[in-house]
Amino acid sequence: MENHSQDRPVKIFDTTLRDGEQSPGCSLALPQKIEIADALERLDVDVIEAGFPIASPDDFAAVSAIAGKVKKSVVCGLARCRDEDIDRAWEAVKDAKHPRIHTFLATSPIHRKHKLHMTKQQVIDQVIACVRRASGYCPDIEFSPEDATRTEPKFLRDVVEAAIDAGATTVNIPDTVGYAVPEQMGAAITDLRRHVPNIRQAVISVHCHNDLGMAVANSLAAVKAGAGQVECTINGIGERAGNCSLEEVVMAMRVRRNVYHTQTNIRSKLLVPTSELVESMTFPIQRNKAVVGRNAFAHEAGIHQDGMLKHPRTYEIMQPKDVGRKKSEMVLGKHSGMRAVTDRFSQSGLPWSREHASLFRTKFKELADRKVANDKYVTDAELLQEVYYPVVESIVGKPFVASVVPDKRKKGQPLTVQIRTRDGRTIVGKASNLKEGVIDAFVQGMKGTIPGLNIPAKGLLLTNPAEGSGGKARVTATMHNKHTVSRTVEGTDSDEVIKEAHIAAFNTLYAIEEYQKLIRNSANGKKKVQ
Ligand code: KIV
Ligand code: ZN
Repeated sequence: MENHSQDRPVKIFDTTLRDGEQSPGCSLALPQKIEIADALERLDVDVIEAGFPIASPDDFAAVSAIAGKVKKSVVCGLARCRDEDIDRAWEAVKDAKHPRIHTFLATSPIHRKHKLHMTKQQVIDQVIACVRRASGYCPDIEFSPEDATRTEPKFLRDVVEAAIDAGATTVNIPDTVGYAVPEQMGAAITDLRRHVPNIRQAVISVHCHNDLGMAVANSLAAVKAGAGQVECTINGIGERAGNCSLEEVVMAMRVRRNVYHTQTNIRSKLLVPTSELVESMTFPIQRNKAVVGRNAFAHEAGIHQDGMLKHPRTYEIMQPKDVGRKKSEMVLGKHSGMRAVTDRFSQSGLPWSREHASLFRTKFKELADRKVANDKYVTDAELLQEVYYPVVESIVGKPFVASVVPDKRKKGQPLTVQIRTRDGRTIVGKASNLKEGVIDAFVQGMKGTIPGLNIPAKGLLLTNPAEGSGGKARVTATMHNKHTVSRTVEGTDSDEVIKEAHIAAFNTLYAIEEYQKLIRNSANGKKKVQ
């Protein structure tokens, strides 16, 4: 067991509400921003960048509302290197328990020449003036040299040194256009740590965009080189291809603690709920997204399912509950093996025998192949209706009940029914009281055949002919003892369909009971299973 007590703390700066919110498809209303800020605080992020107060009155209102509400995390407002931006940012965050102003100015040659029309000296002078102005308002000041990764290394050092001298307590190195690669990002941080004389007076932060899909890798390289803060967003939302994803960078540091030797304050069990919250207010995340995607703990391939059932660590490097997912999922589909299928039977308490594995396998594969063209997965209900029940029924042979015919009701007497069984016997079923009809009389008559037989209170689902396909009534009837079986029957006469659906549900339940006995007898060597 490794000792992690010396692990270096890394701050998590969340910019979902600023860099995330300003990207296409992510605009949020004030109540939504407040709900997300609450969730971020519960998640224990160190800093919430709540918005860009000068951008609009709505942005200002959101930042100041969040500043007034959040108590644990630092609340930060963004400002260009301009007096009016800085004043407005302060106005918005001033009521925060822990306020921060984050100011930025581009430093790369391309931005200096085409966007700012400024010389290097003018950039440095403006940085100094703005950081000084901001630190006149509060002690917690962050400065970002925008497009740092395309800035001349020597000039970047000068800007960073000047910003720290002017009062910046955090210097953030943005890979604004997602151009960096991990080696370069790590080297940039190492360079600053080595060559900027006052660098220890500030926290080095990193802010990576994902244009080449390397935002997380670049952020981790910066962490490895000594960065003390990572800027990221929930679900990686952000400009263009997004920002470094919070859940991924946090879990990478946690799962590979032996590599990074760092720790964060994040309560990882809240990652999935927070991701789902942001997803519900922005856009759907990819199914296979690391850590929080629906497939992140789902297994379909037979070999993987087999390994997972033997030991989850075979195919999972973190536990679902660590990130707030209840459990791993065995998805049944074209690639699944029998292990996962029979495991599903066992989990539902349904009997099955190895002797019949090939029957179940054939039926399952047929179903899975049919599903490939459309919705891909086999649901639990389909597995029962289209695989388990038909196979079990084919093993035990003819259905037990052949027909149920009601007698003419005698005045003042409960209804009776004649139940014909497969072996030619007739059982009389009698309704439990005067009000009850055919189904009750049938169930009462059958009670002796299956212990605990009953129909659940809401055991009938009826789609009337008018609503059903082709003018047909569609009835799903449920019966249970220790198992629960639902069967669906279609027809034109509703009363007849209801009766037939109940007979079908009973026959399946009976078949399961018989199958269980067959397996037991076969195991005891008393009777050979056909
Ligand atoms: O990407 C970027 O450069 C930014 C800065 C404002 C930090 O978002
Ligand atoms: Zn950014």
